[in-house]
Amino acid sequence: MLFNYDSEQIHNATLGNLARLSGSRIGLDCIESFFGMAHLPVQLWGLRFPNPVGVAAGMDKQGVAVPAWAAFGFGFSELGGVTWHPQAGNPAPRMFRAIEDGALINRMGFNNGGAEALADRLADWKKSGSWPRHPVGINLGKSKVTPIEKAAEDYANSFRALKDTADFFVVNVSSPNTPNLRQLQDRQALDEILAAIQALNGPGPNAKPVLVKVAPDLSFDALDEIVELAGPRNLSGIVATNTTISRPVGDERSATVYSETGGLSGRPLRDRSTEIVRHLYLRTEGRLPIIGVGGIFNAQDAWEKITSGASLVQVYTGMVYEGPGIARAITEGLQALLAQSGMKTLQEAVGIMARAKGFPTAPKPVLSDR
Ligand SMILES: Cc1cc2nc3c(=O)[nH]c(=O)nc-3n(C[C@H](O)[C@H](O)[C@H](O)COP(=O)(O)O)c2cc1C
Repeated sequence: MLFNYDSEQIHNATLGNLARLSGSRIGLDCIESFFGMAHLPVQLWGLRFPNPVGVAAGMDKQGVAVPAWAAFGFGFSELGGVTWHPQAGNPAPRMFRAIEDGALINRMGFNNGGAEALADRLADWKKSGSWPRHPVGINLGKSKVTPIEKAAEDYANSFRALKDTADFFVVNVSSPNTPNLRQLQDRQALDEILAAIQALNGPGPNAKPVLVKVAPDLSFDALDEIVELAGPRNLSGIVATNTTISRPVGDERSATVYSETGGLSGRPLRDRSTEIVRHLYLRTEGRLPIIGVGGIFNAQDAWEKITSGASLVQVYTGMVYEGPGIARAITEGLQALLAQSGMKTLQEAVGIMARAKGFPTAPKPVLSDR
C-alpha cells in the first residue's frame, strides 16, 4: 500500500514516526519487543558490534531516530551524509522505485541540516540517556557551495564539529548526486582530504576510525590507488559500495524509472558491489576491513558479501522493500549459515569464497554505463 505514495514522502513520514518513538522509552521498548537485537558479535577497531548488519548512510541523514536503529536490531548505524553547510539538496521528486526489480534511483543531493546541527542533535540524544548500545558512524559529504579545490577544508570542518559525537567516520567521495564529487576519488584529491581529517584526528587514544566509501563504477585500477592511501593516511577500512550511475542491461520493465538521473541501488547493484568487495579483499590480502553494501535483501546476500571479504554489511534499499525486521532476519539467517558451515565466529567466514576463487577477473557486464 505504501508503494502507492511518493517514495520520499513515505520515507519522511516513517522517519518522523521513528523520531517520535525514539523520544519515548515506551516507544523504544515496543519496537524492541517486536524486533530486538539478534547477537552475532563482531569486534573491529576496538568497537563491539552486537551483529554485523548496519543501517546504510542516507537512511537517517539528520540523526533524528538514532536510538530506533538498535531497537530494530541493527548492529550499527551510519548517520548522514552530512555536509558542513546546511543544504536543501536537489528539487523533488528525487527518489524513485523500480518495484519489480527491488531497486531505487535517487538524486537527493545531500539534503541535510549541516554538521553543527547534527552535532547538537547527537549531544541531545546522549543527554537523553537513550544513546544506542551499538557503534554509530557518520558519513561525511561535501557541501555543494564549496568549490572542489576547497573540498578538504569542507570535510575537515564537518569532522571537527562531529569528531567527539560518533564512533567512526566515513569519507563519502562517491555519491553521484553532487556535481564533481566523485572526482575526489582521484588519488591526489582524496589524499588531501584524508590528510586534513587525520591532522585533526591525531594519533592518540581518542583518534576515530576513518573509512572511505567508494563508487561501484570505479575501475579496479582506480580502487587500487585508493587502497594505496590506506597505509600513509591510516585508513581503517573501505565501505563498498555507494549507488551506481549505470543501469541494468536489457531491462524493459523499469525503463521509465531507469531513465531518471541519479544513483541506482538495490538488487541490480548486488553483484557489482560484491565483485568490488572481493577485489578489495584480495588486493589488501584481508588486512583492510571492508563494509559491504549494495543489494543485500536477505541472509544469503549478506553471506555472499562476507565470504567475499566484508567484515560488516549494511542495508538501505533492502529495508525499504523488506521492512525494518530485515536486521533480525539477516542476523538469524547468518547464524544458521555459520552453523551449517561448521564455523564458530563470523570472522572465520570473512573472505573464504574470495580466497577459494583466487584473484578476480573483470566483473560480469550486468550493468552498463549510460
Ligand atoms: C535515498 C538514498 C540516499 C542515500 N544517501 C547516501 C548518503 O547520504 N551518503 C552515502 O554515502 N550513501 C548514500 N546512499 C547509498 C547507500 O548508503 C548505499 O551505499 C547504497 O544505496 C547501496 O546499498 P543498498 O543497495 O542496500 O541500498 C543513499 C541511498 C539511497 C537509496
